[in-house]
Amino acid sequence: MPLLMLMPTAHGIIYHRKIPNTVVIKYAVIGNPIQHSKSPQIHSAFARQEGVALEYTRMLSQADCFITDVQAFHANGGLGLNVTVPFKIDAYHHCSQLDDYALAAQAVNTISFNSDGDCLGANTDGIGLLRDLTHNLNLELQQRTILILGAGGSVRGILLPLLRQQPKQITIANRTLAKAEQLAEQFSSHGNIRACGYEQLGSTHYDLVINATSASLNQDLPPIPDSIVSRHSFCYDLAYSDQATVFMQWASRLAVTGCSDGIGMLIEQAAESYAIWRGYRPDTEQIFKLLRP
Ligand code: ATR
Repeated sequence: MPLLMLMPTAHGIIYHRKIPNTVVIKYAVIGNPIQHSKSPQIHSAFARQEGVALEYTRMLSQADCFITDVQAFHANGGLGLNVTVPFKIDAYHHCSQLDDYALAAQAVNTISFNSDGDCLGANTDGIGLLRDLTHNLNLELQQRTILILGAGGSVRGILLPLLRQQPKQITIANRTLAKAEQLAEQFSSHGNIRACGYEQLGSTHYDLVINATSASLNQDLPPIPDSIVSRHSFCYDLAYSDQATVFMQWASRLAVTGCSDGIGMLIEQAAESYAIWRGYRPDTEQIFKLLRP
C-alpha cells in the first residue's frame, strides 16, 4: 500500500506525497544444486499465512564464492538465507554467532544478519525432525530405543535434539565404524549413546529406526537385518521422494507400526527458520496438503 509522507518544499509548504512501497522482503536458499529445492514454495506459503509480500529465491553458488554470494545477498537487502548442501559447514565457519544446535551439528542451515551485517547461524534440521516425530507423527521418544543408520553430517545435526528427549538409548550404526564411534563419543555427555557396525546389529529390535544414510538417494539400502524391527517399531527416512523410498518399502514389508519419509522434517525445519527470521511460526498442516495433495 502507498505511504503518506510529509514533504518540505522550497516555499516551506508541506504537502502529502504518495510514495510507492517498494521495499521487498528478501530471503533465499543457497546451495548447489538448488533447482530441485522446495523451499521457495514452502516459504511463499508461510508468507501468505503471515500476510506479507515476500520474495524467496533459489541461489546457485560455487565453493569459491559462497561467502561473497552471502555478503552480496545481504548488501542487496536480503534478510536471511537457508543454506543447503554442500555449504552448511562453510556457513558454520562463516557465522559469528551460533545457536546450540548449530554448534552441536557443526553446520548451519539458517542465516540471519544483524545490523552490522554479521551472520548469525542456526540449525533447524534436528528440531524440524523432532517436531515431525513428536507432533505430526505423535511418537513418544522418552525411554524409547532409537537406532540411527549412518554417521554423516545429517546425523550430527539430529543427535542433540533427539538426546534432549531422554530416550533410553541411541545406537548409531555405520558402514565406517570409526565415524559412528566418533559421534557417540562427542555426544556422550548428553545421554546414553553407543556406536556399532551393521554386522553387530543382532536380534535386538528398536522402537524407532531412522535412516540417515545417503543410500536412499541411490535407491540403495544399508545392510540391515530384519530383526532390528518388530511390529511395534516406527521407521523414518530422512530422505523424501514422491514414491516410497527403498527403506520405507523394506519397513512396510516387515509390517512395522508405521513409517514415514522426511518431507515433514523438511517442512518443519523451514517453519523453524521462518520463526527465527520473522518471529511468526507458521501452521505447517496446510503445507503438507500443498506438497502432497
Ligand atoms: P549426509 O550429509 O547426508 O549425512 P554424508 O555426510 O556424506 O551425507 O554421509 C552419508 C552417510 O551415508 C554416511 O554415514 C555413509 O556411510 P560411510 O560413513 O561409511 O561412508 C552412509 N552411506 C552412504 N551410502 C551407503 C550405503 N550404500 N550403505 C550404507 N551406508 C551408506
